[in-house]
Amino acid sequence: METIAKWHFAMLNDKKRNQAIENAILDLNLNNKIVFEIGTGSGLFSILFARNGASHVYTCEQNPIMGSIASKLINSSGYSNIISLYPESSSTLIRKKNFNIKPDIIFTETLDCGIIGEGFQEIKQDIIKIANDNTEILPNNINKLGVLINSNSIVNLNKVDSYSQIDISYLNQYSTSTYFPVRSEMFESEWLSESTLIKKYDYKSIEPPESFFSITATKDGICHGILSWFQIELGKQEVTTKPNSGSHWHQAFHPLENFIEVTKGQKYHFVLNNKARIVEKF
Ligand SMILES: C[S@@+](CC[C@H](N)C(=O)[O-])C[C@H]1O[C@@H](n2cnc3c(N)ncnc32)[C@H](O)[C@@H]1O
Repeated sequence: METIAKWHFAMLNDKKRNQAIENAILDLNLNNKIVFEIGTGSGLFSILFARNGASHVYTCEQNPIMGSIASKLINSSGYSNIISLYPESSSTLIRKKNFNIKPDIIFTETLDCGIIGEGFQEIKQDIIKIANDNTEILPNNINKLGVLINSNSIVNLNKVDSYSQIDISYLNQYSTSTYFPVRSEMFESEWLSESTLIKKYDYKSIEPPESFFSITATKDGICHGILSWFQIELGKQEVTTKPNSGSHWHQAFHPLENFIEVTKGQKYHFVLNNKARIVEKF
């Protein structure tokens, strides 16, 4: 049975997220502007673009159930003459010869806790195909931040050993090597560094297969991985998913294959690949 991701509920109740996006829409001058939204979800923000003066909103949704929900919401909003909804993915839509719009604004909120897991790279390719130099793209920047972290409890969300003299570690071949969502506040942990910028993402520049970053330890200890979160820039508005921010997004934990014994004051170098796997760089 087809269904929807259950995070739609938490996401649509995330007032800080919704307010920041609505404020970003209000900050724009939408007069005579064509908007293209990728991933309409319930249709909420397409309706807000229309209600705030966009001349036309084109939007798409790849999940058929969300598409039909959005269609109902848009039809009852009074803006269905301004909003064109396509029940398909942005890639399928953009490939169509008769879809040759020139949007002034492109908006997408298709981010998971580790930024890229909901199709960031594919969506970026779609945006690059349809945008020109004057197209305003929201989010305009996404900053990924992280800390060196020591936390056996978080490591144990991804690794097993034995129970009652029975070795169950065979399961570890299916551990996550990239990242997984975690509500870091719920687990005992020690931060071994200050929060540090790991990577800047946007929907315009060419995505390298790997990027590099360094973090300086502020304490001695065993580093089990990097805890990351992000900060979205939507013009003047911002949304953060940092611990204790109250965001519906979890943080992301990137396990290190080999733990690092870090020393206060020393800088550690890492490679982040395009699957968001982090490894130490020697
Ligand atoms: C995180 S939700 C956000 C929904 C809505 N924009 C909002 O902010 O409330 C992202 C939605 O985009 C859809 N989606 C993801 N990638 C897509 C793509 N490439 N084309 C069309 N829909 C996409 C998902 O199915 C999901 O419903």
